[in-house]
Amino acid sequence: MPTIVFVSPKGGAGKTTSALALATQIAQRAAVVVIDGDPNHPIKTWAEGGEVPQNMTIISDVTDKTIGDTIADAATKAPFVIVDLEGTAATIVAYAIAEADFVVVPTQGSQLDAEQASRAFGLIRAHERGIQKHKPDYKLPYAVLFTRTAAAIQSRDTRHIRKSFEAGGIPFFETELNERAAFKAMFSYRQPLETLPRDEVSNVDKAIENAEAFAREVISRIMQDAPQQQEKVAS
Ligand SMILES: Nc1ncnc2c1ncn2[C@@H]1O[C@H](COP(=O)(O)OP(=O)(O)OP(=O)(O)O)[C@@H](O)[C@H]1O
Ligand SMILES: [Mg+2]
Repeated sequence: MPTIVFVSPKGGAGKTTSALALATQIAQRAAVVVIDGDPNHPIKTWAEGGEVPQNMTIISDVTDKTIGDTIADAATKAPFVIVDLEGTAATIVAYAIAEADFVVVPTQGSQLDAEQASRAFGLIRAHERGIQKHKPDYKLPYAVLFTRTAAAIQSRDTRHIRKSFEAGGIPFFETELNERAAFKAMFSYRQPLETLPRDEVSNVDKAIENAEAFAREVISRIMQDAPQQQEKVAS
């Protein structure tokens, strides 16, 4: 515990990239189980590179029938569980949300992409409504993560979307996951950011800084939004 689930019914929103960036940063401080719930197994394939941090365990081969139990079991064993899912609204996504303590909704910073993110909010609300029948105050904490944004300057599009999310009370991470060759290179080299060859991949340290800022914000949001997690995260 806690379980952090990456959800975006839109394909290519940056779920796998941001989930792996988060997992490798968290592995530097605590044990983490990554559940690769995508039938294409991108994180399992990444792990075959052999550079998996000691603190990280990867579980794949989950189905909609097994994902709930798999997450619940992992959560009893590791301080952090991170779940990556494929970009659909399949039932497996609903089952994973049911086990989540925090949901990250990655989206690219364009208006069209942001509108697609609302499908993820729909899934979160549907889960909340179910629980609220017997626990009226229940809320599942979540936040939107803007991905693949320009590192140098915030685009007008992203600024506008941030404003409209703010107005609509939709929480989003201050940290954006910038467009960086190093995030792509994690998959082509099958390595964590830390061990990417600096002479071949540009701005590795900037990407590490970015991933670390994201990890810190995830942890602080979990502590703020889910007080029952506080002890576990702090310990
Ligand atoms: N921060 C980033 N910097 C550079 N490239 C990125 C970044 N985030 C994602 N990408 C690239 O964008 C594409 C889609 O990213 P990713 O696979 O993480 O999305 P996804 O939401 O997991 O997709 P799917 O729904 O297919 O599982 C990939 O080619 C990935 O390398
Ligand atoms: Mg993916």
